[in-house]
Parts: sequence; structure tokens; C-alpha cells
Amino acid sequence: MHRENWGTRFGFIMATAGSAVGLGNIWRFPYTTGQEGGGAFLLIYLACIAVLGLAVVMAELVVGRSTQRNPVGAFKKLGGGQWPHVGMMGVIAGFVILSFYIVVAGWTIAYIFLMARGVLSDPTAVNLEKVFTDFITNPYEPVLYASVFMGLCAMVVLKGVGAGIERASKIFMPVMFAILIVLVIRSITLPGAEEGIRFFLIPDWSKVSADTFTAALGQAFFSLSLGMGALITYGSYMPKDHNLPADAAMVVTLDTSVAVLAGFVILPAVFAAGLSPGAGPGLTFITLPAVFAAIPAGQIFGILFFILLAIAALTSAVSLLEVVVAYFVDEHKYSRRKATVIVSAICLGLGIPSSLSLGVWDFKIWDKGFMDWMEYLAVNLMLPIGAMLTSLFVGWRLGPKAVKAITNDGTLNIPATGLWLFILRYVAPLGILWILISGLN
Ligand code: TRP
Repeated sequence: MHRENWGTRFGFIMATAGSAVGLGNIWRFPYTTGQEGGGAFLLIYLACIAVLGLAVVMAELVVGRSTQRNPVGAFKKLGGGQWPHVGMMGVIAGFVILSFYIVVAGWTIAYIFLMARGVLSDPTAVNLEKVFTDFITNPYEPVLYASVFMGLCAMVVLKGVGAGIERASKIFMPVMFAILIVLVIRSITLPGAEEGIRFFLIPDWSKVSADTFTAALGQAFFSLSLGMGALITYGSYMPKDHNLPADAAMVVTLDTSVAVLAGFVILPAVFAAGLSPGAGPGLTFITLPAVFAAIPAGQIFGILFFILLAIAALTSAVSLLEVVVAYFVDEHKYSRRKATVIVSAICLGLGIPSSLSLGVWDFKIWDKGFMDWMEYLAVNLMLPIGAMLTSLFVGWRLGPKAVKAITNDGTLNIPATGLWLFILRYVAPLGILWILISGLN
């Protein structure tokens, strides 16, 4: 069967950036930066992206493009032996991440309606923190919104790569970028914003511990959609004549810019509103409505913002679902429809305990509830391990063949291919290993 390809270079970049840019950038990055002490975290995060992120993005894409397969099939074709297990771990990680991702994505949909109804327009009358907590601890509503979101996601994946994923991303990504810029301008000009800017940009090294590194690396991989084969899958639809390193650099730049811009939206606003940056996952949902309440036509911006956040989440969730679907289609000969429906249903099933663990289901192991565990296992363990093994695979097993592949058989002039291999062979595996070990105790 002919395998579908991305239509254009722009389409590929938008879809891949669409996978990368999501809740990770706009929700998770600012609150993690807040929790981990600000500027120092930002620098460590940027270093992780520059040294490891780009190299591993290229590694995943090249595995995908050379094999035109899902992660399990790709490792089978190129490596054989035990390697397909790396792909399998990716498929499982994708599944786990999607199960809690849809819960948070559901919140963004709920907030579109809260904004539209004007519930959040007067922060002196309503306690924004309480609105958020009451909502996420409710046993039914968040589950309902998660189901709606899962349904939307399934619809895009059902349509396939070009008509679904690529088309949606090409329209939504540029709009999102524009809105983000407007919000940055508003946020950094709020009275009291300077303190937030200082917090974000000036490193305070006294707050740095081994955990900061684990958190920065986990965030970098999560944000770039690395470590579980999403980019292997997207690379598998990439035409062979694309300039892979240039496209990869573009995607990494876009993803990092959106995270940093989101930091400039959220953190100055937090300080301007007199809130604590260490508030955790509620940060975006609690502080942004306060910003919107303080600006002219804020309600409209608010609605737009949460629509865009939902869309950013959608293009990312689609990539998670696509990995699992591509696996069942390629390896088990499911139809796209059957795979999409079954995987979505099971995923939603796994999302329900995640959502309940924030409210009525008060069950904790070592202080972490179900959703915290899902996130911890997938993001802090599976993604780094997946990325480490992928680096080793491309660096050692493929080695010069990988260089040949990213230079399109030597026809492209790509600088520093030697450095790329060096990073994949030594720097990435050892760096990740070191961070993993220091994060465990
Ligand atoms: N990168 C996305 C975000 O920042 C989330 C995501 C999509 C992801 N696909 C992934 C994370 C694959 C890890 C692996 O929101």
C-alpha cells in the first residue's frame, strides 16, 4: 500500500511543530519554571534543548524517514533483536501520556465556556483559585470534557495524515502564534510585571538541585515530543528530499520560542496579580483569567486564548494518538478506523482515574496520586530512557549510515555531522543517565 506523505515542507513543519507545541509549552513550562525557581531553570532548560534536544529530534526523524514505519516497525527494520522493545515502550508511553493529557486538555475546553459565560470576568467577586479547584475536583464535569476532547482528537486522526493532521496544523499554528504575541505585550506591560520578568530571566542558582536538572530535561523532552517515537512516526511520512536537519532546527526553534513566550505571558502576570509562581498546575488557569479581567476586551482575548490552547493541545494529542494508531495499523493490520476507535476508548478509560485522583479519589502512594504517577512514570522515566536508547541506536548502530541519511546521500551540505554523532554516542546517553540516576535519590 502507498504510504501517505506530508503535502509540503510548510505542512510538515506545522504538523511537527503542532505536535511539539502544546500544553507542555503554554501550561506545563511556565508552572514548572515557577516551581523550580525561575531563571536558573530557564537556562538549564535551554541548555538541554540546545545540546540534546535538537540532536535527538534529528535522530528520531531520521529513523522514521529511513524506514517509513511506526516506532516498533522502524526498530525492527533497522535494528532487529531487542530494539523493537524501545519502540514498544514508546507506544506505551504515548498511551499513558495521552490518558492524562486529555484530562488537562478537557480543562481548556471547559475554560472556553467559563470565559464565554463571563464567570471569570470579575476577580474581586470570584476567587479564581477556588473556581479552578472546584472544577478539577468535580467527579463528572472534567471527565465529560476529556471525552469531548478525546472525540475531537479521534476525528482528526481518523481523517489521516494530510487531510486531518496537516490541514488542521497549517491553519491553527500561525493563529496561535499571533495571539501569543498580543498576550505577551499585555502581560509585560501590566503594573508590577517587572518582578516577574526578573524572576524569569535572572538565575538564582541557590534554588538549583539535582531535581532541577531532572525537571528541565523531562520538560525539554516532553515539549519536543521526544523519547516515545512521535517524531519517528511523523518522520515516517516525510519525503526523502526534505532537508531534515533544517526542518528539525525550525521545529525546535518554534517550540522553544512558544515556551519562552508563554513564560513571558504567565510569569509577569502572576507577579502583577500578587500570586505565587510556585502554585503548580493551576497557574495558567488561575492567573490568566486575572490578566484578561484587567484588559479591555479581555473576555474576547480570554475566549480566544483558551480556544487556542485547546487547539495547541489537540495538535499534540493527535500526535500521541497517531503513534499508537500507526502501531496497530502497521503491525497488527488494524484498519485506521478500528485502531482509532479502540485506542481512544481505552485511553479515555485510563484518563478517568487520573481525573478522579484530583478530587474524590484520595488515594496516594508516596504523596503522589494516580495522575501524578502517570505523569512521573511517563515523563521523568520513560521519555528519558526512550531518548537515551534512541540516541545510542542512531549513534552506534546506524552511525555513518545516519549521517548519510540526513545529508540525503551526501547531496546536502550539513555542518557538524561529526558533532551530531558525538552527541548521540556519548553526550546524550551519559547526560541522560546521569540525570536519571541523580533524580532517583
Ligand atoms: N509536546 C507536546 C506538548 O508540549 C506533548 C506531546 C505530544 C508529547 N506528543 C508527544 C510529549 C510525544 C511526549 C512525547 O504539549
